[in-house]
Amino acid sequence: SRIGTGLAATPAVAAAAQAVRVPLHVLYGTQTGNCEGLAQETAAAARAGGFEPQVLGLDDVTLETLRTIERAIIIVSTYGEGEMPDNAHLFWGALSSPDTPRLEGLSFAVLALGDTAYDDFCQAGKLIDTRLEQLGAHRVGPRIDCDVDYEKAATEWIGSTLPLVPKPAGAASAPAPVVAEAAAAAAPSRSGWSRKTPYPATLAVSRRLSGPRSGKDIRHYEFALADSGLAYEAGDALGVVPRNDPAVVAALITRLGVKPDTAAPGTDAPLATVLADTREIVTPSRELIAAIEARAGDDELTHVLRHRDREALDTWLWGRDVLDMLNLNPKLDFELSEVMGWLKPLQHRAYSISSSPEAHAGSVHLTVASVRWTYDGRPHGGVCSTYLADRLGEGDTAGIFVSPNKAFRPPADSATPMIMVGPGTGIAPFRAFLHHRRAAGASGRNWLFFGDQHQESDFIYSDELGALSTDGLLTRLDLAFSRDQAEKVYVQTRMRENGRDLFAWLQDGAHFYVCGDASRMAKDVEETLHEIIATHGGMSAEAAADYVANLRREKRYQRDVY
Ligand code: 2AM
Repeated sequence: SRIGTGLAATPAVAAAAQAVRVPLHVLYGTQTGNCEGLAQETAAAARAGGFEPQVLGLDDVTLETLRTIERAIIIVSTYGEGEMPDNAHLFWGALSSPDTPRLEGLSFAVLALGDTAYDDFCQAGKLIDTRLEQLGAHRVGPRIDCDVDYEKAATEWIGSTLPLVPKPAGAASAPAPVVAEAAAAAAPSRSGWSRKTPYPATLAVSRRLSGPRSGKDIRHYEFALADSGLAYEAGDALGVVPRNDPAVVAALITRLGVKPDTAAPGTDAPLATVLADTREIVTPSRELIAAIEARAGDDELTHVLRHRDREALDTWLWGRDVLDMLNLNPKLDFELSEVMGWLKPLQHRAYSISSSPEAHAGSVHLTVASVRWTYDGRPHGGVCSTYLADRLGEGDTAGIFVSPNKAFRPPADSATPMIMVGPGTGIAPFRAFLHHRRAAGASGRNWLFFGDQHQESDFIYSDELGALSTDGLLTRLDLAFSRDQAEKVYVQTRMRENGRDLFAWLQDGAHFYVCGDASRMAKDVEETLHEIIATHGGMSAEAAADYVANLRREKRYQRDVY
């Protein structure tokens, strides 16, 4: 016998349940997964608001598909100097072409993520927003351009924009979306630990990988996952919440001419604590640069800002932190509250995970190079890399969370060959991929290109890679040590030397992966890839470009570059 639920279906309830739910596409372009997370959040809120959402990466949407879509929320980040994220290249190529058909049937709104530290802030979102309007699509509400601390603004925008998306008459009219609940439901990891609520993990291992004579301090870290329930996959990144160097905090406080136990403006908390735990005090914000320029009387800074010359500004800024900016004119006095207003909220840093959960149960590994430099005779350090290296000992606790990167994964088919290009700390995710494949007993061939300055001091994980080669898991290992001979040898040099085989692997269905420096290495590697395909495939430059575009479309060309 059935047990009554007490919720007898009244005619109204039945009708609402049957009413057509309105299709809504949530399209995202992402480099590190933030937009994908927001897309999931939007989908959850949309579902609560009576829509039937479908979440897709932008590159999975062809123009033919786009012409059939009636409603879309587009969430896209900008990366590098105003560039589209990797999974939006094909989409933007099609959308920006001169013969793109009109899109009058589409209603849309754009949420853009970016970083105000860059000139072309939210450029990818702006381009897509403008282009859709040009093509006759209907913008249902204004675009929002979010800075790195985007969560609150993005969630509010989702809540205010969804009700603007038109629904046909007779569609389900569910109650207004309860965004907070929907967002909670879409928390990135099932464990509940997230960017907002990081897991306090114990650092179990901190070990230097680079040799004593290396010019670099590359380190291996292992965090214990204990009973956190934190789950990750090879290819994911780990967010780490840093704390600033107390010496830098103290120097700043001295420069501001206040006592360390002064309460931070608007709080009861001591200034030193607030600066250490909640503000970016190394990289100067745009507001701070502008404010200093207005007062310091530094002709060169004024010149580069007036001419909006990004490169000249970067050159001028090189090495200077917030304190160096305040010291530009030592005679200047600052109000504590105005300086606080120029300091952005402290952000987590994300690192590619270098372990595989199948091989390293209960733990997550990172491979990080400490960032250190000297300016004006004073040692400077990257916030999070020196936090890990200098201020966090084995047994200490740091806030971590998993930042999933579904667009960077070993092939689903364990027999598919992998080609991996990862010089320096770019090796991190490939160590994870290789361990993953070994644990899974995967039969696919694996080819790694690795390099750094000197073999003697910088060949990190050489024992492990040696063992993986002996095992037969690592089919090929090509090394490029740039400073061990007169002329520079880079990973792309080795790719070119082995171009015939590399092309043969691609023809066999290999996936091609790149991790590491975006500004030079990844660009040169891509150029070399085109070259190899043209040479060994007997193709024109255009045909080689199509071949690479097709690799992207098939998700066989994946990058994790920064
Ligand atoms: P270099 O510093 O000796 O020039 C990791 O940093 C390795 O990447 C180093 O060996 C570095 O060489 C090398 N590297 C520098 N620029 C590169 C580029 N454009 N392409 C590939 N590797 C590069």
